[in-house]
Amino acid sequence: MNLFDLTGKVAIVTGASGGLGADAARAYAEAGADVAILARRKDRLEELAQELITNFGHKVLAVQCDVTKEESTKSAVAEVFQTFGHLDILLNNAGVALHGTVESMSAAEWQKAFDTNVMGIVNMCKYVIPHMKDKNYGKIVNTASVNAIIADKELALVRHSYNTTKAAVRGLTMAMAATYMQNGITVNSVGPGLFESEMTVDTLFKSEAFLKMYNHNSPAGRPGNRGECNGAIIFLSSDASSYITSQHIIIDGGTSIV
Ligand SMILES: NC(=O)c1ccc[n+]([C@@H]2O[C@H](COP(=O)([O-])OP(=O)(O)OC[C@H]3O[C@@H](n4cnc5c(N)ncnc54)[C@H](O)[C@@H]3O)[C@@H](O)[C@H]2O)c1
Repeated sequence: MNLFDLTGKVAIVTGASGGLGADAARAYAEAGADVAILARRKDRLEELAQELITNFGHKVLAVQCDVTKEESTKSAVAEVFQTFGHLDILLNNAGVALHGTVESMSAAEWQKAFDTNVMGIVNMCKYVIPHMKDKNYGKIVNTASVNAIIADKELALVRHSYNTTKAAVRGLTMAMAATYMQNGITVNSVGPGLFESEMTVDTLFKSEAFLKMYNHNSPAGRPGNRGECNGAIIFLSSDASSYITSQHIIIDGGTSIV
């Protein structure tokens, strides 16, 4: 028996138009799942859908969805359910990282951070969980960050709202885990360290000082490579983690331990 096999499962990935979300969608398809990829940029989703169908041959559905808008998540989840008839896995990957401190950031920027990183998960879970409860089965993985537990001190790179909202993702993960284990649903989170993506390529990766500090602090001596988040995501999305809930797997080459 392959505990990591996702054949016959349907996985939803939010924020799948690029970066870690698109890579996770590839990993789900490779593990055998049908995949619903959600994001705001439909053209990029269509491209990824074509790639997944060509490479893996499973069903793929691309749905335009803004996770900050409850109506958008409601109709996206309805479309996924209508297409596949069931939902098994939800990866809440969509996120934003705004730079700034409590002094520099506007209320609107704080709102955007909360709306995306926290309410985005709430909005998706609100409509996905009833389907999972009906099936008495579900695997929810929330993408938090290593920044849920550590903060940067270099002023140019400080992201107070990011630390705050990613810590909130941990709280939400624990609370949902405690409520829904009795419904056969596990809820866990992952905490990536530093990975190259649209979110980081023009900021963290442009700062020599930050990269030097990260690599120095990391026992691995480097940022994460493409695909290195997928092992934890597939583990937490599969039957290999059937008795594991509310956990946080940090994927940072050990950076946060030293
Ligand atoms: N890259 C890293 O180093 C790193 C580290 C820790 C955590 N993370 C987390 O990983 C996740 C993916 O980030 P990434 O690095 O791939 O960056 P990214 O910017 O490439 O991906 C974020 C995705 O979320 C989408 N998104 C943002 N707002 C949305 C909305 N309102 N509705 C739907 N989609 C929306 C974006 O369009 C994008 O596709 C994020 O939650 C991020 O916080 C990334």
